[in-house]
Amino acid sequence: MELTKAEFDLSEIEYVSYGGEHHLPLIMDLVDQELSEPYSIFTYRYFVYLWPQLSFLAFHNGKCVGTVVCKMGDHRHTFRGYIAMLVVIKPYRGRGIASELVTRSIKVMMESGCEEVTLEAEVTNKGALALYGRLGFIRAKRLFRYYLNGVDAFRLKLMFPRMDPPNYHESTNATYFTDHEMTPGADSVTNELEFHADMHGN
Ligand SMILES: CC(C)(COP(=O)(O)OP(=O)(O)OC[C@H]1O[C@@H](n2cnc3c(N)ncnc32)[C@H](O)[C@@H]1OP(=O)(O)O)[C@@H](O)C(=O)NCCC(=O)NCCS
Repeated sequence: MELTKAEFDLSEIEYVSYGGEHHLPLIMDLVDQELSEPYSIFTYRYFVYLWPQLSFLAFHNGKCVGTVVCKMGDHRHTFRGYIAMLVVIKPYRGRGIASELVTRSIKVMMESGCEEVTLEAEVTNKGALALYGRLGFIRAKRLFRYYLNGVDAFRLKLMFPRMDPPNYHESTNATYFTDHEMTPGADSVTNELEFHADMHGN
């Protein structure tokens, strides 16, 4: 396993959304190396076949150095996104690659009408908790012995601001979309989205 920091310029990192079966082994290798939870190929396929637009890979000179895998759908009374896996290999950590991957997925979720995004992280995973905290996620719940290794999880959550649909005022009297209250988390991720978009010239 490579432990030394890689020398690179952030502009050399290329981000692509899931592009087909050739990306699957790259994602599986990274996740198998770095996450404690074992996943079967069916789990990976479930995510990337149904929501390819929500999974991203980061490449440096043709080598896959990071990935995020997500889904979205109805949950109780909300339409929400879920971040299933996030990994950046060690030599590439601490340069904002994971934040950029997550931010890209969250942006697609917001554009697709999600109202919130959640995930679970081990309570001992300081790096992930700091990363998501910085993006505005709050700790919604502690899940006792959630992982197969016996470690508890925090369920982390980020609420998005509600958007007016186009021509809302002409088309409906409903009050649901009139609430523009921004949660601190939503504010923070919006800033982060702008920050990362600026950084990468989008
Ligand atoms: C967690 C992980 C994805 C972070 O990747 P990364 O590319 O280094 O993350 P970023 O550079 O985008 O970090 C963004 C912020 O998160 C925080 N952070 C990330 N890793 C951290 C660490 N090890 N300790 C403390 N804070 C950390 C920092 O606040 C950082 O911002 P800063 O560098 O400006 O201070 C990576 O360490 C990893 O792959 N870990 C193993 C797999 C894993 O735990 N995945 C998450 C499962 S929930």
